[in-house]
Amino acid sequence: MVDIHSHLLPDYDDGPPTIDHTRKMLEVAEQGGTRIIVATPHILDITDYDREDEILHKFNLVRELIKKDGRNLKIFLAGEIFLFPDTKLDRVFSTFNNKKKYALVEFGMRQIPDFVPQKLFDFVMKGLRPILAHPERYIPIIKFPQYAYKFVQMDVALQMNAGSILGAFGDSVKRTARQLLEHRCIHIIASDGHNINSRSINLEEVRKYIVNTYGEKQAKILLEENPLRAIRGEPLIKEEPIPFEEETDDRSIWNRFKKKTGLGKFI
Ligand SMILES: [Fe+2]
Repeated sequence: MVDIHSHLLPDYDDGPPTIDHTRKMLEVAEQGGTRIIVATPHILDITDYDREDEILHKFNLVRELIKKDGRNLKIFLAGEIFLFPDTKLDRVFSTFNNKKKYALVEFGMRQIPDFVPQKLFDFVMKGLRPILAHPERYIPIIKFPQYAYKFVQMDVALQMNAGSILGAFGDSVKRTARQLLEHRCIHIIASDGHNINSRSINLEEVRKYIVNTYGEKQAKILLEENPLRAIRGEPLIKEEPIPFEEETDDRSIWNRFKKKTGLGKFI
């Protein structure tokens, strides 16, 4: 399997506190059947952009550790980029494998800020392909899953967390994860692993769940083929998403965005 979302760098963010913890995470990932993994440290604000050298140094440490331990694992670098109105995707950690194509992005869980649809649309127009991390965990998407469908319509790819569909984040997140899968709005599943316990890096259990519920072919697309394509900068395999019932709230962010930009027919 190919895991494109993980927090592996030692003593960098809320991932492993030491390199020994990183080593344990790599062992668990390998045992669970992961063969390619992407370290995606949190890039939360401008101060993290100034930590580029530290990120590269720690990434190289982890790559050396994999080699030293003889693990059957390949590692690449990206970042989990917290969006701001002025976010640029021009750093070595901004896009997967620095291909200037796919970028893993997130924003606050409680609301979709007004600038977000425009920002994502601007990236897409420049040929970049944002991948929104864990849409099933955002409160507005839990309330109105059709928002996820609208992101998909804008050519934003959606990455679900393994733990979400297995219940690690509670019933409402699990229900939303299932809805998004059933409406073909999820393109990639990844661990978002932070450690080996509560936020595990092991993809074995989610693979079994997807195989049992949606079949072997779907598991291969979500856990191998699409994540690999994101690393390589190639187009993802996408099925036509199934729309949800239209939301009618005229004050919603999507209606404001439509009015402001005239992009109604796209979203
Ligand atoms: Fe993450």
